[in-house]
Amino acid sequence: MKDWARSIDAGEWESLAREHGTPFYAYDAKVLHDRCNDVSLAFSQAEVRYAMKANACPAVLDAIRAEGFGIDAVSAWEARFALERGFAKDEVLYTGNFPSDDELREVAGMGLIVNLDALSALDRYGAMARGAKVSIRVDLEEGAGHHPHVVTAGDESKFGLTLDVLDEALAIIARRGLRLVGLHQHVGSGLSTDEHREVWLRAATGLFDVALRVERATGPLEFVDVGGGFGVGYREDERTVELASWGSALERARIERWPDPKRRPALWIEPGRYLVAECGVLVTRVSTIKRARDRVWIGTDAGMHSLIRPAMYGSYHPVYAPRPRAGASERCFIVGPICESGDVLAEERTMPVPDEGDVLIIGVAGAYGYAMASTYNLRARPAELFFERDEWKVVRERERYEHVTGNGV
Ligand code: LLP
Repeated sequence: MKDWARSIDAGEWESLAREHGTPFYAYDAKVLHDRCNDVSLAFSQAEVRYAMKANACPAVLDAIRAEGFGIDAVSAWEARFALERGFAKDEVLYTGNFPSDDELREVAGMGLIVNLDALSALDRYGAMARGAKVSIRVDLEEGAGHHPHVVTAGDESKFGLTLDVLDEALAIIARRGLRLVGLHQHVGSGLSTDEHREVWLRAATGLFDVALRVERATGPLEFVDVGGGFGVGYREDERTVELASWGSALERARIERWPDPKRRPALWIEPGRYLVAECGVLVTRVSTIKRARDRVWIGTDAGMHSLIRPAMYGSYHPVYAPRPRAGASERCFIVGPICESGDVLAEERTMPVPDEGDVLIIGVAGAYGYAMASTYNLRARPAELFFERDEWKVVRERERYEHVTGNGV
C-alpha cells in the first residue's frame, strides 16, 4: 500500500477538517495519474474503459478523460454523465444488467454501443434501436473476486449470457437488424492472488476463442472487452498487483489467435478499483471514545453511510491518526454513528487511543467509497476534495438537510 496521505502533515489535515467539516473524501491527482500510467504501460495494446462505478466524482472523470481513457457505464445516468463530462459516444460502453425498457430507451437515445447479457434485453433493445451497435457479455463460468458478492461470472452469478444460448442471441441480433461489434466479459473484482490472475487470463483467452467462433459466424468484431477486476493492496504490508505480467500474457494470447494485425479486434479493458482506490482517503474526526469490557470503541463522524466496504464485505482499510497520541497501544474498534452493530470501519486495530476531536485518516478509500455512500439515518454524504497542482479544491459539497430529506423539493 502506498499512501500519499501520510506525507501530508497533521496540521494541514486539521486545517482542512476545520475549513470543510468532516467527514470528507480527499483525492490526489498525482496518484491517480500514476495508476493510470501503470495500466497504460502494462496493457499498452489495450484501450481503457474506466469503470466509473468505482468513483464518479467529476474531477476524477475529468482526470481520466485527460489520460485518453474511455468509460464503462452500467446505468443510463452513468452514461449520460460521462457524455456530459466530455467523453465521446464511441468512448462510452453501456453495460446493462436486467435493464428496464425505460433504461434501454434512454441509452438508445444516446447512440452508444450497448452491451447486453440476456436474450430478452437484446430483443427489447433491438425493437427500439434497429441498426444500433451492440456487444454481448458472455459468462465463461470463470469467476473470482475478493468476496462472493463481487464474483461476476459462474454458477451463482446473475451476469453474462451462457454459451448454450449464444446462437440464439446471434439470431435475435440478426432478426432485429442490430450490428454485433464486440464481445465482453467481467470475471469479478479485487483480483490480487496468482490464482485470481490465472482465472482472469483463462477467462480472457476463453473469450478470444469465443470471439473467433463468432467472427466465423457473423464477420469481424471491432473489439473484445475482457473486463476489469485488478486488485490493489489495502493492508499496510500488501502490495498492489503487478499488472505487467497480466498484460504481456494476454497480448501473447491475442496475437496467437489473430496473427494478422489488420484482422485483430481491438482489446478493451475496464479497470475501476485499480485506478482510483489508492488516490482517495476518507478524513474523519473522532467524536466519542467509549471503553467497555476489554474494548476501546472509537466513534467517528464517518460510518457505514460514508464507507460501507468494511460492513458489507468485511474489507480492511488502513486507519491512522496523522497526529498519533503518546501512550500504550490498545485494542481499538473504529465505528460510526449509525444505528446498526455492523456499522464498523475497522475492527481490532492495535493503536494508541486518539483523543476525542482528533482527525483520523481511512486509507485506500478512493474506489467504491463515496460511490457507495448513502444517506442512511438521514446523514449527509461527505464532501469531496481534490488535490491538484498544489491546491485543494472542493469538487463536491457535503449534502445539506434539504438534499437528504427531500424537504422542499
Ligand atoms: N466492468 C464491469 C462490468 C463491472 O461490473 C466492474 C465492477 C468493473 C468493470 C470494474 O471492476 P474493478 O476493476 O473495479 O474491480 N463494490 C465492490 C466492487 C464491485 C465491483 C462491481 N463491478 C467493492 O467495493 O469491492
